[in-house]
Amino acid sequence: MERFYHIVTYGCQMNVHDSERIAGMLSELGYSETYSIEDADIIVFNTCCIRENAENHFFGNLGALKKLKEKKKGLIIAAGGCLTQQDGMAETVHKKFPFVDIVFGTHNLEKLKDYILQKHDGYKKSIIRIESDTGVIYEGEPLRSSYPNAWVNITFGCNNFCTYCIVPFVKGRERSRKSENILSECESLLKEGYKEITLLGQNVNSYNNGSDDIPFSALLEKIGAMEGKFRLRFMTSHPKDFSEDIARAMAGSDKICNAIHLPVQSGSDRILKAMNRHYTRSDYLRKIDILKKNIPDCAVSTDIIVGFPGETDEDFKDTLSLVREVGYHSAFTFVYSPRNGTPAAKMENQIPEDVKKERIMELVSLVNDKTRKISEEYVGKETEILVEDRDDKRELYFGRDEKGRMGYFESDKNEIGNFVTVKINRANGVSLMGEKV
Ligand code: 5AD
Ligand code: SF4
Repeated sequence: MERFYHIVTYGCQMNVHDSERIAGMLSELGYSETYSIEDADIIVFNTCCIRENAENHFFGNLGALKKLKEKKKGLIIAAGGCLTQQDGMAETVHKKFPFVDIVFGTHNLEKLKDYILQKHDGYKKSIIRIESDTGVIYEGEPLRSSYPNAWVNITFGCNNFCTYCIVPFVKGRERSRKSENILSECESLLKEGYKEITLLGQNVNSYNNGSDDIPFSALLEKIGAMEGKFRLRFMTSHPKDFSEDIARAMAGSDKICNAIHLPVQSGSDRILKAMNRHYTRSDYLRKIDILKKNIPDCAVSTDIIVGFPGETDEDFKDTLSLVREVGYHSAFTFVYSPRNGTPAAKMENQIPEDVKKERIMELVSLVNDKTRKISEEYVGKETEILVEDRDDKRELYFGRDEKGRMGYFESDKNEIGNFVTVKINRANGVSLMGEKV
């Protein structure tokens, strides 16, 4: 009898890739994917706790499954990831939602397969298993669903302890995969026909810091020198560890996209210090200069938090002026949300919600203005799109150009996975409309 799995993923690209690992395990157990939650024999939630909303969504979605679980005998519900790894959260999930069969964390993701087998063997009770940081480095086979892009982990965990961030508490200390494993994974992906590789880590720039293995810039050079037409991207870069050798490696290979995600978080030195970011506004701007000196047309994107404890109007103005100065291609903007167990959650002068709201609106509008302008500059020009998928409703293919701009166009043949030169006729906020040349 055929059995189906359905995975619900919250949060970042790293979680998306972890879900591909989970899919790999489930397929080894004989399950195939279904998009319909009702048809699934196992439902896995891969959770995130970096910001508040993911938690609310997760609890909402889990609660909604109670009826399905009662109706469908043998249905297995599993929940894991960053949120369940948080202190006490696994027990909370078990208490609130006793019908959940398996609760696991970030450090025992690869044991999910064993837990499911236990359930297949008829184990009746809920399996609640959280492990502390075991320094595990995953090498299991993911089942990828992101063609033409492939995600490749290079580091796990984080050592930075930014004061607002929960990640180091739930993902453990930073550890790097061996370069030989990464290189052979990339080689096989390219052989299999993947057209884009995105290297993943909380801070890819500190890859192999303090080890004898090659540094990040050399890893980029080696992958960038591989044969065939493909794109190489990476995320995320911590500004404090971004150095000129990385910019040179980017400039030295036409496979490495002229695009970088360099989260600044704030434009105020006072706030950057309180965030424990280990750079000042001028350090950050110097890194941008180094980048632009090596790659004049490099597209820079960023993450920004507004409403960090103690942020004054003056501090916020510093963020706005930095955004103007850098001219980001795009930016993810966040309202600060206190995460239990982080130092910032205990800081005095938390910012009132209405002030946070006002600030985020002003910031978003500034970011959007620039994003729109950059999109408009594309009109009348040609750009090369790597086609990701087809929007069946609009009957358009879409994909990104090297700088990460999303472009749409018509075609009467299957273009998924092709590099297509598109002449842009119209800019539509963050996306572009054009025709195949
Ligand atoms: N509140 C708001 N934003 C946060 N981020 C991380 N933690 C928090 C928090 N507590 C944002 C940062 C980070 C991005 C992935 O999420 O900007 O770069
Ligand atoms: Fe969190 Fe800072 Fe690590 Fe990024 S670098 S994951 S923001 S602690």
